[in-house]
Amino acid sequence: MPIVNRIADFHAEMTEWRQDLHAHPELSLQEVRTSGVVQEKLRSFGVDEIITGMARTGVVGVIRGRGPQSGPGGRAIGLRADMDALPIVEETGVPWASTNHGVMHACGHDGHTTMLLGAAKYLAETRNFDGTVYVIFQPAEEHLGGGEIMVKEGLFERCKMEKVFGMHNWPQVPAGTFLWRNGPTMAAVANIEITITGKGAHGALPHFGIDPIVVAAQIVSALQSIVARNIEPAESGVVTIGHINGGHTYNVIPETVHMKGTARYYTPAVGDQLEDGVRRLATGIATSFGAKAEVVFDRIYPATVNDPDATALARRAAVTVAGESQVRHMDKPTMGGEDFAFMLNAKQGNYLMLGAGRNGREGSDFMVHHPRYDFNDEILPVGASYWATLAEQLLPRQAD
Ligand code: NI
Repeated sequence: MPIVNRIADFHAEMTEWRQDLHAHPELSLQEVRTSGVVQEKLRSFGVDEIITGMARTGVVGVIRGRGPQSGPGGRAIGLRADMDALPIVEETGVPWASTNHGVMHACGHDGHTTMLLGAAKYLAETRNFDGTVYVIFQPAEEHLGGGEIMVKEGLFERCKMEKVFGMHNWPQVPAGTFLWRNGPTMAAVANIEITITGKGAHGALPHFGIDPIVVAAQIVSALQSIVARNIEPAESGVVTIGHINGGHTYNVIPETVHMKGTARYYTPAVGDQLEDGVRRLATGIATSFGAKAEVVFDRIYPATVNDPDATALARRAAVTVAGESQVRHMDKPTMGGEDFAFMLNAKQGNYLMLGAGRNGREGSDFMVHHPRYDFNDEILPVGASYWATLAEQLLPRQAD
């Protein structure tokens, strides 16, 4: 594979780091050990500065190049990885499986952290660039918006940079393939909560009550009409109810039912239509049954939108590493959410996918967030080489 030779030299070492991180997963904003490991490695690589404490466990390594521009006021870029794991009971059976029961690196953030560490090691050793590279290790991508917190806590004021880049492994396409896309790439996310209050009663005497379970059933069905009937067909939207909780036993009509769900969209206008539809249907249906509905529509992540210039640069670096035939256009955006969106809202940049499929058969690997998913260590040098190449191409050495 046409990866940076020096990085290929530490493939085995990176694999050890990755499997160690995999064995010790930590939930969002609790990445204390992970953050410590990252800091200790960055220190051992001899980076120029380590910034800690942003978003609690976030770490930024500062690596300065050799040229005259490599001081304050010089050129700079940011490379970002995420560090957190998910509340999933692991079922991989691998020797490096989670030792933290109920918590699992099921999205490959162990691999993302490792690939950026690999690039940091190489960049700190070779310094074959001018300006400054910020390696950003953010907590809480899955939950609690660590990216948003870092931006709010002044990431881009403290670390002045021209552009910021992110990357995610993608098991559904073969290892070493890059997927790129301009414009909206991942969806905006809203959390939906609906509480229906009726009137509790004996299950055999429903006429004394107002049954919130019947109301909930009508609401779930009706919500499906928002995307089908209110959103312009050429636009995209999703409304999913993922949780319903109400009642305890056979013969009691409960007083309340609680529902949780997610909405996905790319444009704020569609977000408004989804919100309006959820509120209108939930409250209207509840009222028509004599019940009440309280609706929360909490927009947690904006859409992940790639800048065309940054994407062209990212694509060029990917082609240098993997070759033209391995760098593909991503024809459709995905409805997954990504909190790198907050960084891209604040700073021009790009987010791309790196294929991680093991056996060359497209779509046959376990997808991220599955209890049997495990990051493919084969792509560690590919991702690290992409980061290193991107830094060297964007911040080329000038003659001293
Ligand atoms: Ni992820």
